[in-house]
Amino acid sequence: MSERIAVFGTGYLGATHAAGMAELGHEVIGVDIDPDKIARLSRGEVPFYEPHLPELLRKHVDSGRLRFTTDVETAAEFADVFFIGVGTPQVSGGYAADVSQVESVIETLGPLLTRPAVILGKSTVPVGTAERLAQRVRDVAPAGSDVDLGWNPEFLREGFAVKDTLQPDRLVLGVDRARPGRIEEVARRVYAAMLERDTPFLVTDYATSELVKVSANAFLATKISFINAIAEVCEATGADVRDLADAIGHDERIGRKFLGAGLGFGGGCLPKDIRAFQARANELGVDQALAFLREVDGVNLRRREHAVTLAERLVGGLDGVRIAVLGAAFKPDSDDIRDSPALDVAGTLHLRGAEVVVHDPEANENAAKIWPTLNYVDDPLEACRKAELVIVATEWKQFRALNPSDLKSIVATPRVIDGRNCLPSQEWIDAGWEYRGMGRLAG
Ligand code: UDX
Repeated sequence: MSERIAVFGTGYLGATHAAGMAELGHEVIGVDIDPDKIARLSRGEVPFYEPHLPELLRKHVDSGRLRFTTDVETAAEFADVFFIGVGTPQVSGGYAADVSQVESVIETLGPLLTRPAVILGKSTVPVGTAERLAQRVRDVAPAGSDVDLGWNPEFLREGFAVKDTLQPDRLVLGVDRARPGRIEEVARRVYAAMLERDTPFLVTDYATSELVKVSANAFLATKISFINAIAEVCEATGADVRDLADAIGHDERIGRKFLGAGLGFGGGCLPKDIRAFQARANELGVDQALAFLREVDGVNLRRREHAVTLAERLVGGLDGVRIAVLGAAFKPDSDDIRDSPALDVAGTLHLRGAEVVVHDPEANENAAKIWPTLNYVDDPLEACRKAELVIVATEWKQFRALNPSDLKSIVATPRVIDGRNCLPSQEWIDAGWEYRGMGRLAG
């Protein structure tokens, strides 16, 4: 059965969710306060890089099942189900999450809800938020207690957003146990196609659903920092962290995924989520329980510093030295530079006197907005020309496919730091490169 759905927020999460809901057969309206974004989306253009999303968006803008607006009244009039997919960034000057965009949706939408409605929050929020918002929306909505709010966290990864939206590992729905209302019934209709495929569907209380999301991201961040901490020990002993990860990863209880040592994690979720989680634990008086996340953050940030120190050691002082940084996005298949280790390393090298040339297949434009003083070029070979050091900082497949022999004839000195341990190291060494990985080969 087709539902009439509004999705608030048209960033990586909201835009993908809106297109995904249309693909499931629903009538969807995407809402955002940014008129430029809405104009572009209405023309079928995705304002950021996300594989497969442009095709899906165009398909449903053309089919008429998906449209966009800045007008909340239009959305309130049209829809019966309202998703909240706006951002919850880190507050400036603190660790906590800034939930003002989520609150603003409730404040603008709530007073327009004159008939029964279900609101499903997808944004990552501090535990306790859903309960507070559920009360608030009932207070401000003319429909009052006919407005139900559930929390339905999103686990999508950038680069795989379409797949993760249409084929999620699991669906989680937090409801008010005391008055569950129609939330589960409506969510089951919205996600009917997935539930038919036996996608696990877990109904929990509000607090659990909120904690599921931050716990999942805290676990992933911890796993990455674990292997990066081991990488530090490998560096001190000459051991090879990639071989080590392969060996421990064969244990099913551990698993090989997210044991990629390198420059560490970045992006719009993992870093800010572990900080917001600590801030919330402090408020709740259980700060000791999450004290380890401070170390997880610390290990993570040390990897960036390690790469800069290693660069300095290899070239013997950074002043005026030309360095090519391949990659600016926080991970491949994304143009997102939020808290990007790659860009952080590039920027720090520049501040310490190096002449840094950056190439990223998709993120140059975004990177230039926050680091306008770096040189950006459109071609990886151009970036490497006359470089005394090449740093691979994001594992785009284009970089993994570079021919080390060809590249050697372009650079000033064949020296490479493989910041993501993604290059075929032996081929580079055989081609005459001085190769340094992270946590391996005397990194
Ligand atoms: C993450 C979660 O994976 C997703 O479930 C959640 O909904 C949002 O946050 P995302 O931020 O898109 O998704 O990126 P992810 O693929 O998790 O990678 C995060 C960072 O960790 C990247 O910078 C990546 O390069 C790094 N990483 C990942 C490692 O350094 N090593 C690894 O082994 C894996």
